[in-house]
Amino acid sequence: MLEFTRDNITGAVLDQMSGTADARLKTIMESAVRHLHDFARDVNLTPSEWIYAIQFLTRVGHMCSSSRQEFILLSDTLGLSTLVNALHDTTALEDSTHTSLLGPFFRENTPRLERGAQIGSDTSSGEIVLWGRVANVDGAPVGNALVTVWQTAATGSYDMQTTPEKNDYRGQFVTAADGSYLLKSVRPRGYYIPMDGPVGDMIQAQRRHGMRPAHIHFLIGAVGYRELVTALYLENDPHLADDVVFGASGDLIARVRDNDPACPIAGLPSVRFDFTLSRETEADRIGGRVGADPAAMLA
Ligand code: BEZ
Ligand code: FE
Repeated sequence: MLEFTRDNITGAVLDQMSGTADARLKTIMESAVRHLHDFARDVNLTPSEWIYAIQFLTRVGHMCSSSRQEFILLSDTLGLSTLVNALHDTTALEDSTHTSLLGPFFRENTPRLERGAQIGSDTSSGEIVLWGRVANVDGAPVGNALVTVWQTAATGSYDMQTTPEKNDYRGQFVTAADGSYLLKSVRPRGYYIPMDGPVGDMIQAQRRHGMRPAHIHFLIGAVGYRELVTALYLENDPHLADDVVFGASGDLIARVRDNDPACPIAGLPSVRFDFTLSRETEADRIGGRVGADPAAMLA
């Protein structure tokens, strides 16, 4: 009979899991066990600390609903979502627009709108135009791409937080044959991630501010191309450098121009951003989103 110690328990677990049929599952679980055990030894984890962590994770689970995904928020605030995105970017066939967080406010059910439509219901803060082109790495236009856009109202809240029964500040657009997209919106505002749950408690304990810089989410899909999940971050936002979920990155900065003569809708401030898609590989077909509609996670 083996006597388990701090030093032999890891090997015993790995031995017992060694018959795992799926090779990738085996690799992932072996590494997870090794790192978890090393972590416990590294910090000399006490029983009460581990129970506290289990209670914390239980609270994270209880906080999840059809409109909130606290586990994704935890992954985002620990930088794990951005790390997984960065790893994913390195597997693209071609050097395309970088990914950014899908975040917890994506909705599968987003209304399809006409080219040039306004996505928000309250435009009293002033409208802005979002426009540009979707192209491949050779510069060829990608027509018929589905561009899904979502963002906060000018108040800094998503529809899911204020009017969960109604879609607002989100829409889907189809690119024209020349790859162009065009829509109207309002200036989004930076906001606190949801702070009233266990992740918020963690952020406060770590004396972090909990803010995201103002941004606009994009999810772009086209036949034959790797799906692009990204976001544009408004230039000059005070939290570009310390985004609590590490989503803002230098190559995704959007500039609002007051009078861009090239903008297809005259007389409004506008953001132009051109997206580049990578051609799809077989592996891309299984998807590359770190995040999901919270409702889909409960299915
Ligand atoms: C967001 O961009 O909507 C978001 C991303 C991660 C955590 C919270 C919010
Ligand atoms: Fe967001």
